[in-house]
Amino acid sequence: MAILKAVRGTRDLLPPETELWNKVEAAARSVFARYGFGEIRTPIFETTELFARGVGEETDIVSKEMYTWEDRGRAESDRGQSLTLRPENTAGVVRAYIEHKLGETGSLQKLFYIGPQFRRERPQRGRYRQFWQIGAEVIGPATSGSESPVRDAEVLEMLATLLDELGITGWRLALNSVGSAADRARYSTALREALAPVKHKMCEDNQRRAETNPLRVLDSKDENDQEIINGLPKIADFLGEDSREHFAQVRAALDACHVRYIIDPRLVRGLDYYTRTTFEFTVPDGSGLGTQNAILGGGRYDGLSEMLGGPKAPGIGFAIGEDRLILTLQAQAAEAHTSKLDAYIAPMGTAQNPAALQLASELRRAGLTVEVGDGSFRLKKSFEAANKVARKIIILGEDEVKSGVFTIKDFAKAEQTKIPHGDLATALKP
Ligand code: HAM
Repeated sequence: MAILKAVRGTRDLLPPETELWNKVEAAARSVFARYGFGEIRTPIFETTELFARGVGEETDIVSKEMYTWEDRGRAESDRGQSLTLRPENTAGVVRAYIEHKLGETGSLQKLFYIGPQFRRERPQRGRYRQFWQIGAEVIGPATSGSESPVRDAEVLEMLATLLDELGITGWRLALNSVGSAADRARYSTALREALAPVKHKMCEDNQRRAETNPLRVLDSKDENDQEIINGLPKIADFLGEDSREHFAQVRAALDACHVRYIIDPRLVRGLDYYTRTTFEFTVPDGSGLGTQNAILGGGRYDGLSEMLGGPKAPGIGFAIGEDRLILTLQAQAAEAHTSKLDAYIAPMGTAQNPAALQLASELRRAGLTVEVGDGSFRLKKSFEAANKVARKIIILGEDEVKSGVFTIKDFAKAEQTKIPHGDLATALKP
């Protein structure tokens, strides 16, 4: 009988890896508590309409990636309806905010969540059909200060703190402002006009988007269309005075907190609810994620509550891709563990053992990390042993000891050089 396997794009998390997941979640909970966030748990499925209205019909998520089904009614009183496994959690949180009239408390709601999300994407490393997000939303009536640039900066500073506490190295924050709904409408018109004469050269998806939702053209990955996209008008030139001032204040607060960022004018993000501040954190190459290097994304959504039929409730939030965060931590830890010694000294014949130890002592005192082999090893064995633990091997034969000039091989560069004794310590420094 055929063996049954987990569905494509889903995976089992087993010990000891689950220990790392629990550690990450505990670190997030601890940081969130310090910033005054409380936990919210919303259902894993919602009505399809929530995502169609909230995330946007024209987004890739809603148009191609949702797990949607017609749920049959079980009785006359129980109507059938279209339901969807949540592809993200912001729409659900805002729905809950409206449903439980959290706005009527008058205070700012700071809510976090940890849980699985579902998108029918093409699976690859760092991209799954069931994946986990650790996210948070700050939302409330404008009188609660929910619109303040302080909120944006606080969320970003909190994320920088969390990533640093987890030990993620080399992260980069890209920031942009997509303006108010009115700014975006003006920008959309300008994009539509700029696209009209060139769109016939673009892929089918972009031809459609150019008509229906031209902003979405900007996140297109289609190689052939990049030249046209790079030449399109920039959102920064369409921001009204309010949006510009808001963005300036977010940046000033970040500068004051020493959170570093770069401005990326093309960062519009793939969901329709964003207004003003948008952001993404990425990790450098070699962090185990390949092209899926965005470990988290988010932004402001000042009109989302109204799009869902609720009261005015500006908000800002983010979601961390927990699977990607874990992959990064594993890759960066492996990198740290495999950090190699500066040199391995290979004595050629047991007679050279004392000289090898003496040289090791001298180099270690100079601050280098050094391992010593044994004169009984054949050359091949010395090379194999050295390659496992060190970046370079120093061959120490009778001739070398006499002449004071050593042969060094750099494994990564596959390069052999001769270095006089006096220059050795400098030459071995990483
Ligand atoms: P998003 O950019 O669609 O935003 O997703 C946030 C993060 O979830 C991504 O940066 C990525 O790390 C992770 N992610 C997305 N899709 C996958 C996947 N198929 N496999 C693994 N990881 C994935 C949102 O979801 C918004 N709700 C964020 C937000 C909250 N904006 C405001 N508040």
